[in-house]
Amino acid sequence: MNSEPEDSKKRTSPAIYCFMDAVARQAEVYAREHSSPISGLLEEVEDFSLGATPYPSMLTGRVEGRFLYLIVQLCGARRIVDIGTFTGYSALAMAQALGEDGQIVTIERDRHYAEIAQGFFDRSPAGSKINLLRGEAIEILDSLPAGETDLVFIDGDKREYAAYYRRAMRILRPGGLVIVDNVLWYGKIFHPQDDDSRAVAEFNELVNSDPGAEKLFLTIRDGLYLIRKRSA
Ligand SMILES: C[S@@+](CC[C@H](N)C(=O)[O-])C[C@H]1O[C@@H](n2cnc3c(N)ncnc32)[C@H](O)[C@@H]1O
Repeated sequence: MNSEPEDSKKRTSPAIYCFMDAVARQAEVYAREHSSPISGLLEEVEDFSLGATPYPSMLTGRVEGRFLYLIVQLCGARRIVDIGTFTGYSALAMAQALGEDGQIVTIERDRHYAEIAQGFFDRSPAGSKINLLRGEAIEILDSLPAGETDLVFIDGDKREYAAYYRRAMRILRPGGLVIVDNVLWYGKIFHPQDDDSRAVAEFNELVNSDPGAEKLFLTIRDGLYLIRKRSA
């Protein structure tokens, strides 16, 4: 039985989306080519991650990196938490947009990636604004003070997204932002068959039903959830 409301059916008519299948892949390349690179070092992080790691798809990359960079500038964030460092792209992109008094805590449990990322941070003038904490994200988030963070970027273990989100809402100041990567999870959220897909699908419902959050689901790349903590 199809229980989709009439109004919703009208608004998702195939006619409106007829361009999508044709342009999706091309649009991704086009978006990259029409977005400024942030720095030569980030280009290097990208090349390294694509060529020398077994999981190049984990990389944030230029379009999302530029998005994060602009968000940091536009909202004037000074205290940022980045969950899931990998080779350091998101942390470095945001650090390059921070003012002199800004600080990023970036969290990574894999020692190998933490070392690679620290190597890149050490080569950047913005690297002194990045504090790489090695360990489990949930434990580290629990050790951070409440209400003092301006922006949290969630990009760690998909099965822990809901746990990160609850902790992010605790450490954020009212009006602070959460940005969550991979919320489309390669389209698997529509028919979840495995733990990661189920976790991301359930996470999206958690956010969507949270009265304490304003939310915007963006279809940039693999999906980005932009969430603002409401003032009490
Ligand atoms: C998708 S990658 C992050 C990509 C990164 N934000 C970027 O801009 O390229 C996810 C990273 O989170 C780390 N991670 C996953 N679960 C974690 C956890 N529970 N605690 C800390 N780090 C975790 C993984 O080791 C991996 O390096």
